[in-house]
Amino acid sequence: MPQDANVIGTLFGGQMVSWMDIAAAKAAHRYLKNTNVDAVVTRAIDTIEFTQPVHVGDWVNFNAKIIKKGISSIVIKVDAFKETIKKDQKLACTAIFTMVSVKKQGNGLYKKVAHKLKQSEG
Ligand SMILES: CC(C)(COP(=O)(O)OP(=O)(O)OC[C@H]1O[C@@H](n2cnc3c(N)ncnc32)[C@H](O)[C@@H]1OP(=O)(O)O)[C@@H](O)C(=O)NCCC(=O)NCCS
Repeated sequence: MPQDANVIGTLFGGQMVSWMDIAAAKAAHRYLKNTNVDAVVTRAIDTIEFTQPVHVGDWVNFNAKIIKKGISSIVIKVDAFKETIKKDQKLACTAIFTMVSVKKQGNGLYKKVAHKLKQSEG
């Protein structure tokens, strides 16, 4: 949308990062369904690469894939693809997100927690 554009009329990179962060969080939350975890937060974003400009009117699709599971962390690769009614999907941005599982404490604050493996994986 026009409000998401930068001064040269393409998608503002910060907006792309925000959307990709949501896609990464969604993948992590989906994986952590029915576990001891309350939520995940973003700990790190590595190797982000903008490979193609996205123009106003383009659709943006996201593919988020878990590539590593740590003790409290989950590493997710997010690819963003641009697409239009006339053009097929093309990779526009790719990044690696590290999300960390957190649990609400008695004092209302959220603290890092090890995510217990789901029974199917244990
Ligand atoms: C996320 C948070 C709770 C983690 O607590 P912490 O005590 O700092 O935890 P650690 O430093 O031990 O790191 C937790 C995990 O992240 C990993 N990690 C830490 N720094 C990292 C980095 N730079 N890159 C990738 N992974 C990293 C650790 O290896 C660890 O993984 P593991 O448990 O699977 O072994 C805390 O750092 C925090 O609150 N950060 C702010 C989060 C935030 O506000 N995000 C933006 C909004 S969502």
